[in-house]
Amino acid sequence: MQTVLLLVSSALSALAQPGWTAPSHPGTPGSQSGGPPPSSHPSWGPPPGEYGPPQTHNSSFTPDHVLRVTYANVSMGCESRASVLVNGSTPGPELRLEPGKTSWVRVYNDMTQYNTTIHWHGLSQRTAQFSDGTPSASQWPIPPIHFFDYEVHPELNDSGTYFYHSHVGFQAVSATGPLIIEDNGPPPYAYDEERIIQFTDYFNKTDTTIEKGSWLHHSLGLEKPTLC
Ligand SMILES: *[C@@H]1O[C@H](CO)[C@@H](O)[C@H](O)[C@H]1NC(C)=O
Ligand SMILES: *[C@@H]1O[C@H](CO)[C@@H](O)[C@H](O)[C@H]1NC(C)=O
Ligand SMILES: *[C@@H]1O[C@H](CO)[C@@H](O)[C@H](O)[C@H]1NC(C)=O
Ligand SMILES: *[C@@H]1O[C@H](CO)[C@@H](O)[C@H](O)[C@H]1NC(C)=O
Ligand SMILES: *[C@@H]1O[C@H](CO)[C@@H](O)[C@H](O)[C@H]1NC(C)=O
Ligand SMILES: *[C@@H]1O[C@H](CO)[C@@H](O)[C@H](O)[C@H]1NC(C)=O
Repeated sequence: MQTVLLLVSSALSALAQPGWTAPSHPGTPGSQSGGPPPSSHPSWGPPPGEYGPPQTHNSSFTPDHVLRVTYANVSMGCESRASVLVNGSTPGPELRLEPGKTSWVRVYNDMTQYNTTIHWHGLSQRTAQFSDGTPSASQWPIPPIHFFDYEVHPELNDSGTYFYHSHVGFQAVSATGPLIIEDNGPPPYAYDEERIIQFTDYFNKTDTTIEKGSWLHHSLGLEKPTLC
């Protein structure tokens, strides 16, 4: 077996998504839809020309992959939990990228109340730091009802099994999915079939409750919410 990522969360039927209104402007590499571009920092991004000239995505641009992030109740551990989801399920769909090739992944934030990002866990993103998905560090988060086109360029030696996840708040616990970087050439070992299994933790509290720490405050009898 080439790939072993363990998926524990129950499979979910497709969930209705809230209405999406077309954004007024498409995401562009190197700029964010939620605030000033980090390229104002002189050391951000590759040297001009090293990876080709800056690109602007006009209306004819078609991304290689699309992920849609929603907030909905899902059945997990025999309970219903309001959770941030990728493509209506947790874990979200597997994403398969080619090594040594730039792939564009358009992430729609279909939520009306929360920011989101997607982080490519395990990839260095050395050629596209602005697409790393770490909010307020490498990018401003994607605001509600906006999208961002992520530039993801796995190196030729990055083949393997990873996962993607939101990096905003506690969303990563449910907004996550398998990220497979394909083999660079023929597979190194013979195998019969590939199955992907992804484990995640389950929390019987909503993200907002956990982020605020108010349940801990309450259970410890503290006067002010404390997280350590
Ligand atoms: C959109 O961008 C592509 C690639 O840069 C370019 O070839 C094409 O002419 C553009 N189309 C429009 C309508 O501007
Ligand atoms: C996610 O869902 C969108 C439509 O809702 C679909 O176009 C896209 O292919 C899905 N992504 C993956 C990786 O399956
Ligand atoms: C989840 O279900 C509860 C109870 O029906 C409802 O109050 C809540 O709005 C739902 N949350 C979401 C995100 O759909
Ligand atoms: C979304 O991110 C922006 C920029 O960091 C921040 O100002 C705003 O408060 C965030 N919105 C929510 C709902 O967290
Ligand atoms: C992987 O490839 C990159 C660029 O092609 C190189 O910088 C890096 O050192 C390589 N890593 C390993 C572990 O060989
Ligand atoms: C936590 O568990 C209780 C009891 O089973 C359930 O009613 C509730 O919906 C769960 N809450 C979350 C956020 O999963």
